[in-house]
Amino acid sequence: MSITIKTDAEIKKMRIAGKLAAEVLEFIAPYVVPGVTTNKLNQLCHDYIIDVQNAIPAPLNYHNFPKSICTSVNYTICHGIPNEKKLKKGDIINIDITVIKDEYHGDTSKMFYVGEVTPYAKRLCVITQECLMLGIEQVKPGCTLGDIGYAIQKHAESNRYSVVQEFCGHGIGKKFHEEPQVLHYGKPGEGATLKAGMIITIEPMINIGKRHMKVLKDGWTAITKDRSLSAQWEHTILVTPTGYEVLTLRQEEI
Ligand code: MF3
Ligand code: CO
Ligand code: CO
Repeated sequence: MSITIKTDAEIKKMRIAGKLAAEVLEFIAPYVVPGVTTNKLNQLCHDYIIDVQNAIPAPLNYHNFPKSICTSVNYTICHGIPNEKKLKKGDIINIDITVIKDEYHGDTSKMFYVGEVTPYAKRLCVITQECLMLGIEQVKPGCTLGDIGYAIQKHAESNRYSVVQEFCGHGIGKKFHEEPQVLHYGKPGEGATLKAGMIITIEPMINIGKRHMKVLKDGWTAITKDRSLSAQWEHTILVTPTGYEVLTLRQEEI
């Protein structure tokens, strides 16, 4: 069990990869409208990553994943596969982008509203983003993974939502998924202790209904068992000597 500490040279590359991943989410935003297919969003992101960023879309062929991005609509929790179905007004969609630049990974996702969405759906997306930020705010040397999970779980459950337990955040660097597993639930003080130079993702998946999920026959698409709406937000985070640095920050977050 070992969590790697990145060198200054590696951190520089991770900053670049993180920024590129964030820029893909900014690039795709205007295209997320009623009538567009998730295949079209996939193709636009794929071409942007390859032709404009000179980078690699990490999901493509990762453990046989067939596309370059994940698109998870409404009751899909994560790992939705882009397809020919059109988005419709009122949908909520998570777009998850991972790019590889100069051998290092940047991983980030956010929720988009398709046209106007109900206050019920909006509230889920907002609270889930708050869960991510509360988790991130825990990060500093000496903090434990349990501190992060607890902050997320407490906020979700105090809003009567549930936390998906089958998927987690992760260490990230030259490899897409490194140690440790970053659970989005837990108890303060439990689990591994963070040190400066570690890089992890935090990516809570929060359901309006029960936490349980199932994976569709395609082997990837994870949906809520009760078909309640699910939301997810993700950032890649560097542990600094005094706290944290979000490597995948978008302009809208500054
Ligand atoms: N981007 C996802 C994560 O946050 C992983 C997607 S794996 C894929 O860890 F193969 F579906 F792309
Ligand atoms: Co991730
Ligand atoms: Co991701």
